[in-house]
Amino acid sequence: MEKKLEQLLNSAKLEIEGVQTTKELEDIRLKFLKKNGPLAEILGSLSQLPVELRPTVGKIANQVKIEILELLEVKKSELEKVNESKKLNDWDPTRPGRKLPLGHRHPLTQVLDHIYEIFKNFGFHRSDGPEIESDYYNFLALNFSIDHPARDAHDTFYVSDDLLMRTHTSPIQIRVMQSAQPPFKIIAPGRVYRHEAIDATHHHVFHQVEGFLVDEGVHFGHLKGILDVFVKEFFGQDVETRFRPSFFPFTEPSAEVDISCIFCGGNGCKICKNTGWVEMMGCGMIHPVVLKNCKIDTEKWSGFAFGMGVERIAMFKYRIDDIRMFYQNDLRFLHQF
Ligand code: PHE
Repeated sequence: MEKKLEQLLNSAKLEIEGVQTTKELEDIRLKFLKKNGPLAEILGSLSQLPVELRPTVGKIANQVKIEILELLEVKKSELEKVNESKKLNDWDPTRPGRKLPLGHRHPLTQVLDHIYEIFKNFGFHRSDGPEIESDYYNFLALNFSIDHPARDAHDTFYVSDDLLMRTHTSPIQIRVMQSAQPPFKIIAPGRVYRHEAIDATHHHVFHQVEGFLVDEGVHFGHLKGILDVFVKEFFGQDVETRFRPSFFPFTEPSAEVDISCIFCGGNGCKICKNTGWVEMMGCGMIHPVVLKNCKIDTEKWSGFAFGMGVERIAMFKYRIDDIRMFYQNDLRFLHQF
């Protein structure tokens, strides 16, 4: 009986050593240790032995079982290690690649880049300014009188007595004109803040693009020409512009630029309230007071400025009827651009 056990252990050892796969190892485990296998058989026949031999042989049989289990365990972890390194060596550069999901620019960024691209081709350079501004740059230097309604707390987020979240990108005009000498040809995009209740067409954070040009002999005709070409480049050659008198403290004269409604082609619809026109941006000749605040000689230099809302333009371009869509990051919306 003891001999039989020894043989059993040896043949298990031999077979386990030769194993190549975990499947083979499992087969060997079953072969030796299953319920009606050789070891179970020996343990089952202990009762036929003389009583005094039973404990010794039983003990040996148990040891054999434990040893086989250990051998199986060692072999198993060996095989796992081999499998790991095999996986690494399996790298096949000729296999087709896995396609990764590709991100893309936010629709507002796309519109901003498009606007920027058009003005870059006109020879404009890009400038930026801080989103937290002083009262001086946002209002005072732009010829807003101390009691101008636009300073009202209902419109402006104040950070401290003197600091605020800029309400428009026009302070960049002052920063640029105070830091260099004319001529200037600047396009300046940025985020702006207004104390507004949020609804389908208003948000307290939105984006503007400021543009301005200062040179010798610049007049309103230049402004009209450049904005008309811009609108046609951006929306299409058949879109018309018209200039309506308006008011801004930092431009004189000031105008509002309307474009022929791109929804109905100017025939009249719900969007343009049957007028055939929609408002696109504010503009005007830079006020002499503003130029003087920047120590620019108004006898020699003159300039124009304009400012447009990026969300508004994007909504027209893509026919989006709710400004909130831009900030919700709903992929079903973003994937469409
Ligand atoms: N800053 C103005 C606004 O936010 C727009 C504007 C810019 C008007 C430049 C005229 C010239 O409403």
